Amino acid sequence: MKKELKSNFLWGGAISNVQAEGGILEGNRGENVYDQLQVVPEFGQTSQGNTNIASNHYFQFKEDIDLMKKMGFRAYRLSIEWSRIHPKGDEETPNEDGLKYYDEMINYLLKNNIEPIVSLVHFDMPAFLSKKYNGFLNPKVISFYLRHVEQVVTHFKNRVTYWITYNEINTAPFDNMSYLVAGSKRPSGMSKMQFFHDIFYNTERASSLAINRIRELSPKAKISGMITVNEVHAKRNNSLDRFAAHLKNEFNVTLFGDLMCKGYYSAFYTKFLDLNGIDYSNDDLSVNKIAAENMDFLSVSCYQTRVIESNVSPTDIKQINKIIFEVPDEPNPELGASHWGWTIDPIGFREELNQLYNQYKKPLFVVENGIGLQEGKTTEETINDYPRIEYHKKYIKNMMDAINLDGVDVLGYLIWSPIDILSSHKEMKKRYGFIYISPMQNKKMKRIPKKSFFWYQKLIKENGAIVYEK
Ligand code: BG6
Repeated sequence: MKKELKSNFLWGGAISNVQAEGGILEGNRGENVYDQLQVVPEFGQTSQGNTNIASNHYFQFKEDIDLMKKMGFRAYRLSIEWSRIHPKGDEETPNEDGLKYYDEMINYLLKNNIEPIVSLVHFDMPAFLSKKYNGFLNPKVISFYLRHVEQVVTHFKNRVTYWITYNEINTAPFDNMSYLVAGSKRPSGMSKMQFFHDIFYNTERASSLAINRIRELSPKAKISGMITVNEVHAKRNNSLDRFAAHLKNEFNVTLFGDLMCKGYYSAFYTKFLDLNGIDYSNDDLSVNKIAAENMDFLSVSCYQTRVIESNVSPTDIKQINKIIFEVPDEPNPELGASHWGWTIDPIGFREELNQLYNQYKKPLFVVENGIGLQEGKTTEETINDYPRIEYHKKYIKNMMDAINLDGVDVLGYLIWSPIDILSSHKEMKKRYGFIYISPMQNKKMKRIPKKSFFWYQKLIKENGAIVYEK
């Protein structure tokens, strides 16, 4: 069997800048939703990281890029923080300090022959837009986002080819993520279903308009929307669990993939809207249709799979709503999991890549994959991150099997994350990095390569082949 990848396969890593930069008052930056997020403690969480410090990437990004270069990165995904470029969000012109900061970062990447992959919104909506308009729940915010996209793309288009319009857009309409991902909170009195639909339609419209505009501004650009995929499986081998898993996947992933890559609502979704009495007769999907053609590849983040046990019979819309919005999915008891209960399922990852490629026929780009490990009692312990190597070895092997055995087209693979950064719950003890970030001392945070750093360096050098070593 051929065990190699194309020589231009994009190995690298990804971060979201709000989780890494710190320096929240520097360069006339505005406050954003991540700064203001009230964290609901995640299982195992003991303390909250400081967003003003984070990994001090704002001041130490050159050291970080030097280390990424050393690891052999061919690509690096960053986000240009919306609130650094448009501090309140409704400004007509961009903040020059913000542009200058990312100029330096992107120039430094290019100097090091690392391809920048730029996300245009990743947990960084200006807090002002969230407060005044309730984020993307108000369609007016689409025009502010579009202006931001246009100005960023116009400024960087000669240096940036790869654009991701919206991080994990498929989490935006769910109550527990809508504030961080879309800047919106469900108003009292609005049903979950109506809220879901309004956020779904508005964010997908924003992303599609952005894709179409980027295509006009930069014909050579490679443009993508992005979803996260945590496939849900039946916990028991019975039909209720299987159907519940089907409904969850339909709602978590398929609706979004269909609209993004094909430009339409599925029959399942229109029936769901009809039965819930939600009027969609004025929804204009023509921009989504054009965007589906303009989109060059589909970006995905994959970390875990889940299982569901359900005793609810899906025989009317109330029960269907109940399964979708209330019956919880959970870690798979038959497989191992991270300390935070994220099921480790490398073959499940291969299956997800197969499904997405077969359904959407777009090349895939794995723009996030990683494991959060609990911080050790000593630095030494944290640096000896062998479980991380095990995790990535299995996931990468399964991705390569998807490519070499199943015919899936994958453009690249980015680890989450090159350096330790705050988690989405602002947690530093949940460490994802291949490079350890120490606590702050004399205005500096030390960068120390972990064991995984040297492993990934070798992996990139050998274009993946080491995953087949015993
Ligand atoms: C993805 C996000 O959902 O998962 C990242 O795009 C996030 O921003 C990553 O950090 C890992 O999740 P968490 O909650 O452990 O930080």
